[in-house]
Amino acid sequence: MTKISFVAALAIMATATACSSKTPPKTPEKIQQAITQKRGDEPVKIIKPAKVADPAMVELGKKLYFDPRLSKSGFISCNSCHNLSMGGSDNLKTSIGHKWSQGPINAPTVLNSGMNIAQFWDGRAKDLKEQAGGPIANPGEMGYTHELAVAELQSIPGYVDEFKAVFGTDKIDIDKVTKAIAAFEQTLVTQNAPFDDWLAGDDNAITKEELEGYELFKSSGCTACHNGEALGGNSFQKMGVVEPYKTTNPAEGREAVTGKDADRFNFKVPTLRNVELTYPYFHDGAAQTLGQAVDVMGKIQLGKAFSPEENAKIVAFLKTLTGEQPAFMLPILPPSSDKSPRHNPFN
Ligand code: HEC
Ligand code: HEC
Repeated sequence: MTKISFVAALAIMATATACSSKTPPKTPEKIQQAITQKRGDEPVKIIKPAKVADPAMVELGKKLYFDPRLSKSGFISCNSCHNLSMGGSDNLKTSIGHKWSQGPINAPTVLNSGMNIAQFWDGRAKDLKEQAGGPIANPGEMGYTHELAVAELQSIPGYVDEFKAVFGTDKIDIDKVTKAIAAFEQTLVTQNAPFDDWLAGDDNAITKEELEGYELFKSSGCTACHNGEALGGNSFQKMGVVEPYKTTNPAEGREAVTGKDADRFNFKVPTLRNVELTYPYFHDGAAQTLGQAVDVMGKIQLGKAFSPEENAKIVAFLKTLTGEQPAFMLPILPPSSDKSPRHNPFN
């Protein structure tokens, strides 16, 4: 690659925040190709790149995402539970929050979360901005208050300057904080999974076994719920359509939001993008492996018992959905000032 085309590739990838640690950066031609879906009739669609309206706001949001000073302890950031080095999740059954408190439910990935019809397993936040205020003030997560978090940011000159540059005012408030975090999250789109290349027409992008897994995924009916660009995230569905799902987790699903009996145990269908990285699975984190999750889905959603060979093929297909993970310089956070509060995580 010439220097100029490499720089151009970087510029494009900066918008998509996509760059793999496994494979070398793809050329602009390759990225372009993967956007045009040759296999247009498939229920799964090529994931579209993120649109970045305001790069400076994204940069600010990235800092806030990584900043543990938004928590009471001064130790927990969004990245603690949605670790961008681990598929945007924490790989724990349920998360660990303030004072080591045990979370009630499995942490979903933030990758591609901008595509969700709503946020959380039960969809109680309408979008990323509304969601982002939740954890800061949740006693079991970051354990802080919006007022204290904002006052702390206001005491940090580097942030004051940056909010001023992005929002045109040095008066920080929670609305601007959550807006910036959401703008950053919108960029966490994972493009160029092998399966996207296959959808774009590259026959060699996936193996015979992976393709057979996809055929099984379709013919069994998984695509009724896991479809579109994210293979999920676009509807609420019952967990246990054919057979009830047994769990000790008290979450009621969508009913908790709508109050309707019909929504009992309906959960937002999770995306299957990068699902290889986001174990354990289900809202209760009960399925430890992808094989177990596929087995349970077959039985309780579709009344199908897959043979070990069929299960392995579907798992192999699901692993082709791992896209290029977000790659960027680790943000360096502006230091606290003498006026900033000092955190004591132990009281
Ligand atoms: C202590 C762990 C923890 C921290 C810290 C945390 N989260 Fe979460 N996050 C979770 C859990 C658990 C859920 C699922 C809660 C539910 O659905 O009821 C979640 C849900 C989400 C979702 C919804 C994803 C989806 O598919 O529905 C987004 C987006 C998100 N968090 C972003 C953030 C951001 C931004 C921050 C920082 C401001 C943050 N989280 C801090 C644990 C955490
Ligand atoms: C009727 C809709 C529906 C069908 C059909 C369906 N799923 Fe699901 N799937 C869901 C819902 C809803 C969840 C989340 C349930 C929960 O955690 O309570 C889920 C969760 C999953 C998960 C776990 C993802 C995660 O991050 O926790 C995997 C893997 C999965 N499904 C694969 C499949 C496969 C493979 C098939 C076909 C054999 C399938 N699903 C069929 C609705 C469906």
